[in-house]
Amino acid sequence: TSPFAPRHLLSIENLSSAELTTLVRNAYQHKQAIKSGSVPKTLLGALSGKTVAMTFNKRSTRTRISTEGAVVTLGGHPMFLSKDDIQLGVNESLYDTAVVVSSMVSAWFARVGPHSDVADLAKNSTVPVINALSDASHPLQTIADFLTIREAFQSSRTTERSPTPGLGLEGLKIAWVGDANNVLYDLAIGAGKLGVDLAVATPKDYEIPSEMRDIIQKSGTDARIQGKLMETNVPEEAVKDADILVTDTWVSMGQESEKEKRLKAFSGFQITPALAERGGAKPGWKFMHCLPRHPEEVSDDVFYNPSRSLVFTEAENRLWSAIAVLEGFVVNKGKII
Ligand code: CP
Ligand code: NVA
Repeated sequence: TSPFAPRHLLSIENLSSAELTTLVRNAYQHKQAIKSGSVPKTLLGALSGKTVAMTFNKRSTRTRISTEGAVVTLGGHPMFLSKDDIQLGVNESLYDTAVVVSSMVSAWFARVGPHSDVADLAKNSTVPVINALSDASHPLQTIADFLTIREAFQSSRTTERSPTPGLGLEGLKIAWVGDANNVLYDLAIGAGKLGVDLAVATPKDYEIPSEMRDIIQKSGTDARIQGKLMETNVPEEAVKDADILVTDTWVSMGQESEKEKRLKAFSGFQITPALAERGGAKPGWKFMHCLPRHPEEVSDDVFYNPSRSLVFTEAENRLWSAIAVLEGFVVNKGKII
């Protein structure tokens, strides 16, 4: 790669522990500032006169709205292009599309099916490519998730135990109960980097693929705070002593034909108050979900319980995270400071 090659965000793996911490911190600070009425000077008009492409091959509510909003907050022009609008991968090669699109915009958010598609776009793009969801990764979601966790747990924790100034999340435990999917993988890599322990319960045959497990277990760039990964096929085991219970749909976009089989395989994996009780989650446990949510993976009395569920703050935090990502990868050209 040439020294002028742009820096891309394809997965949380692309960030050091310190950079992930900084992105979450910046998102937190921008949220405070903008909600109290002032866009930080360094962001005001930072993308003025610039276009950001958003090519989405799959549906989106949160990623689209947060990204478009973030570009506008920085004074830029988001250009949303669904799969029916452009030639991407249908009538034109990914290579040709990558060269052409990147010659006319300042940054590129891409939502794709196979992760190799977003990797190929990045390889041939002259501007930063941000993964807006692939079948392997959802980095924008992970940054918002750690912002949400930081906000929910900051008052009860100190940063003293961290060797580098961190978010103070070391030693928290997340329990993921459900499908091993794109959202889990980046959350797990991020947890590893931030010293957060993670227990994953999936049905048999739906476990984390072994290459991904290796990446997760080596994800910390500071070995002193590498979070631990535990895996099981028993939801109660994962939930034990957890601070946060997390899940996602059992049928991701693109898996619709497997729906019946999956619903059967995942029976018994719904997050409910009874599961948390049986498994012995911490008394003040919280619930998270990237959304969109379906009732099979979590009961209403968890999902809509205002003292447990962080889901709507988590969704809003997508906006603040998108602003921090634009700042780091586009305005500051990949310097996360
Ligand atoms: N969580 C998330 O990415 O939602 P959308 O698919 O609606 O963007
Ligand atoms: N795992 C889900 C996440 C949607 C935001 C999917 O890929 O469809």
